[in-house]
Amino acid sequence: MRLIVTGGAGYIGSVVADQLVAGGHKVIVVDDLRKGHAAAVPPNAQHARFDLADTAALDALFDRTAPDAVLHFAAYSLVGESVQRPDRYYHNNVTVTLGLLDAMQRHGVRRLVFSSTAAVYGDPQRIPIVEDEPTAPTNPYGATKLAIEQALPWYEAAFGLRFVSLRYFNAAGATDRLGEDHDPESHLIPLLLQVALGQRPYAEIFGTDYPTPDGTCIRDYIHVSDLAEAHVLALEALDHGSRIYNLGNGAGFSVREVLETARRVTGHPIPAVEAPRRPGDPPRLVAASDRIVAELGWRPRFPDLEAIVGSAWEWARRHPTGYPEEDGPLE
Ligand code: UFG
Repeated sequence: MRLIVTGGAGYIGSVVADQLVAGGHKVIVVDDLRKGHAAAVPPNAQHARFDLADTAALDALFDRTAPDAVLHFAAYSLVGESVQRPDRYYHNNVTVTLGLLDAMQRHGVRRLVFSSTAAVYGDPQRIPIVEDEPTAPTNPYGATKLAIEQALPWYEAAFGLRFVSLRYFNAAGATDRLGEDHDPESHLIPLLLQVALGQRPYAEIFGTDYPTPDGTCIRDYIHVSDLAEAHVLALEALDHGSRIYNLGNGAGFSVREVLETARRVTGHPIPAVEAPRRPGDPPRLVAASDRIVAELGWRPRFPDLEAIVGSAWEWARRHPTGYPEEDGPLE
């Protein structure tokens, strides 16, 4: 298939683009590199560098490439930042995404794989979380992803759009070539590894008074390659109907447990200090992913947290300053 991958220079999008290229698909990455890295785009993919809000550029790309499907990763995705700047999140994650859906409709493209998030559930009543759990986001990031998820069935009914929405829990880990490099970094595992590399003096534990056994937040960490494989399966299943799937390992780890794992993996003491809660963080997010296992045969290959952190550590050691610097963002 000919596939447009928005955000394909970013952490998750690049790993998916890599697998799609390896699977024989023709991949066109759209990424303006405001967050992504040119070096992360697969060597055998095309890279169109423009802002997705640029409707004329989008139309020209659809004309030129006649894609069979779109995988839409490009979005802002930080829970804490979204609480500070909901305006940016609504603009980029909702307005720009609706513009992309319009462009797809103008060009007769009716297949979409959409990056959603566990943040749509808010503070769920039942753990592990099934897809039918009520959605009630506790931060603007989750709310913007949910807004698009709620639009999709209407677009399906009116325009015949087929979609798979994948609700990621906490993506982590690295492949040989591709890893996590955000600026500034705010994710727990890469921050712990930066301490182990001597780049930061200590880590912070955001909140120690949550209603969890050790008082710190619990998350379900999933290897980015396992996430990526789910996209390939979702793409193949698109013509059989639209759906929503959770993607996690079904095991929750507290911040303190992740810290202990990083200490074991790196052999570094990783000093940590207790800090206040980060606004918007729900106490506990753990996935039930039985639906995608049963329906698409998805099987995580790296369900073990130590292996996930180990792969991130390998990458961090080989890329201590992340990807090579690229040109500045487009104005
Ligand atoms: N944390 C710390 N110290 C840090 C960084 C994080 O204690 O320095 C804590 C957070 O408070 C949270 C946990 O570690 O409890 C994980 O935080 P991350 O920032 O690594 O990840 P989030 O759970 O906030 O969010 C990630 C993605 C979101 C996605 C969410 C789904 O960034 O896009 O997982 O669970 F929505």
